[in-house]
Amino acid sequence: MCKLLTYQEKIVCKRRMRFPLTMYLIIFVSASVVFYQYHLSKAWMISHNNSQQFRDLGASSVEKGANYTYYASKNIRQAEPFSINNPHIPPLYIITPTYRRPEQLAELTRLAHTLMLTPNVHWLVIEDAQRKTDLVTDLLERTGLSYDHLLAPMPEIYKKKKKGPKPRGVSNRNKGLNWIRQNAKNGVLYFADDDNTYDLQLFKEIRYTKQVSMFPVGLITKLGISSPIVRNGKFDGFYDGWIAGRKFPVDMAGFAVSVKFLLDRPKAGMPFKPGFEEDGFLKSLEPLEPYELELLAENCTKIWVWHTQAKRNEPSQPLDFAKYNNTNLVVLKHILV
Ligand SMILES: *[C@@H]1O[C@H](CO)[C@@H](O)[C@H](O)[C@H]1NC(C)=O
Ligand SMILES: *[C@@H]1O[C@H](CO)[C@@H](O)[C@H](O)[C@H]1NC(C)=O
Ligand SMILES: *[C@@H]1O[C@H](CO)[C@@H](O)[C@H](O)[C@H]1NC(C)=O
Ligand SMILES: *[C@@H]1O[C@H](CO)[C@@H](O)[C@H](O)[C@H]1NC(C)=O
Repeated sequence: MCKLLTYQEKIVCKRRMRFPLTMYLIIFVSASVVFYQYHLSKAWMISHNNSQQFRDLGASSVEKGANYTYYASKNIRQAEPFSINNPHIPPLYIITPTYRRPEQLAELTRLAHTLMLTPNVHWLVIEDAQRKTDLVTDLLERTGLSYDHLLAPMPEIYKKKKKGPKPRGVSNRNKGLNWIRQNAKNGVLYFADDDNTYDLQLFKEIRYTKQVSMFPVGLITKLGISSPIVRNGKFDGFYDGWIAGRKFPVDMAGFAVSVKFLLDRPKAGMPFKPGFEEDGFLKSLEPLEPYELELLAENCTKIWVWHTQAKRNEPSQPLDFAKYNNTNLVVLKHILV
């Protein structure tokens, strides 16, 4: 078509030919985008309607095999039933030690909102403090979760300790275990510290723990992970950056225990031994051997929990109350540490 022309004319001719092609391309791409957007917005609407429906039906729903399993769209997560007392699935007792520090409310907010998406949870929030923090009480109340807000201050002998790490969270977790002994009959317990990130899949899987289940925890030590080693579908040791002669070299977030299994072992508890809390607790669940552990997260090939750890923040600077009297800053300052 562009024959017999000068070089200049050839270029102009070729450009003319390319122009309509570009136009077609633009039209095609625009149409695709509009079509995609339409489907996306529809999916959002369905998912919104759907989540409302799930809230309404929450109390009578089941986690697995719910008869209204409803996929709003392939790329929007399946809505989970919101419920507290669901008789069809075992209850989960989540033990969370916490203490007042700049990150506390931020971390508890994140964990609370994860648990709000998990059915049949009872949350034991246990503060290392002499009295309950009102702001924590307010947060718990607003979540609508089933919970108990307890206190378990660290014993003075450990608090006074000047050298080395303190056994943080131990009296809290033992308090949680005692609560379970007195109030629970079945279900599963899990130590969920407030500084981790949890995939909802974790709660779906640990709920059916028969004795003690284990799974990988991401972002631990220089290895980046703490996990049982699985070879040919069977337990074959532990991978952890700090073995230290432990029988169970695992992280606090890396295992769940059946309530019945705990109740059968009245002496089980956590030692005030920094670094050896997990090992001490798991050993106190004797008889229990590593090969008996239930390996979750698809033979420990998935990471459903991360040891995120927020950056440590300095306490906020004092507020000049004379300058900012009668402003919102006074209210905000009371929330901060
Ligand atoms: C959402 O629900 C409203 C009222 O219940 C209904 O009119 C609307 O069609 C629904 N939207 C979708 C996308 O299903
Ligand atoms: C579906 O769920 C409803 C409400 O929980 C229940 O009454 C009904 O029996 C369920 N149907 C089936 C087929 O499971
Ligand atoms: C775990 O591995 C074993 C052996 O390879 C296999 O039979 C089993 O199906 C796996 N389980 C899961 C949940 O992937
Ligand atoms: C702040 O203002 C109130 C009255 O609005 C006053 O009673 C109080 O003394 C003031 N406080 C300071 C620190 O200036």
